[in-house]
Amino acid sequence: METLAPAEEASADAPPGQGRSGPPTVAPSRRAVLCGLCAATATFGTAARADEPAEAARNKPAQPGDWLASFEDGHAGALIDPAGVKRDMPPLLAWPFDPAKKIARDGSRLNLVLVMRFDPATLSPDERPRAANGIVAYTAVCTHQGCWVTDWLAKKQLLHCPCHGSRYDPRRGGAVVLGPAPRALPALPLRLAGDKLEVAASFTDHVGGEAPSGY
Ligand code: FES
Repeated sequence: METLAPAEEASADAPPGQGRSGPPTVAPSRRAVLCGLCAATATFGTAARADEPAEAARNKPAQPGDWLASFEDGHAGALIDPAGVKRDMPPLLAWPFDPAKKIARDGSRLNLVLVMRFDPATLSPDERPRAANGIVAYTAVCTHQGCWVTDWLAKKQLLHCPCHGSRYDPRRGGAVVLGPAPRALPALPLRLAGDKLEVAASFTDHVGGEAPSGY
């Protein structure tokens, strides 16, 4: 399963948002996939798009009781198996999934989330109750200007936005640890429901950049 590209080396000695010799190191295919979203090219629910209730479900923010469906190459649309989310993996991209309509909420870029797993003992007191056996989820949209938070700094265990270098700590409620982001990355509380990951509550804060970059 493809995951977010590690950017540790690219950002270690570089100005925020840049690799040693140019733009941030992100897998081209991943950046292209996300840019495809900018053009509102969705990948799920094609057959139902003429159906207005289904269209509304696609655009709706994550709801308690939703499941999570993968947005990873080769796995798109498959429900995420909690057992497949390992502690040493970079974040996975996922959409909330409406179990009643059986449709991913892929109608808005604001719905895309990052899913990752940590040792529950390393999570902050605020974050621990939002985690499902150590699995946490955050919006993939930076709170600064709305870019994709595409990079994972594996050694530091931080999320990194390549646009202006904001970094977020997913073990501490998405707290900003570097850069211009004005607030923490909103978390999506999770719980386990049998063999599924389920959304336990709405995002902890509104999703999106304070000064949207236009896509
Ligand atoms: Fe993410 Fe500016 S740091 S949009």
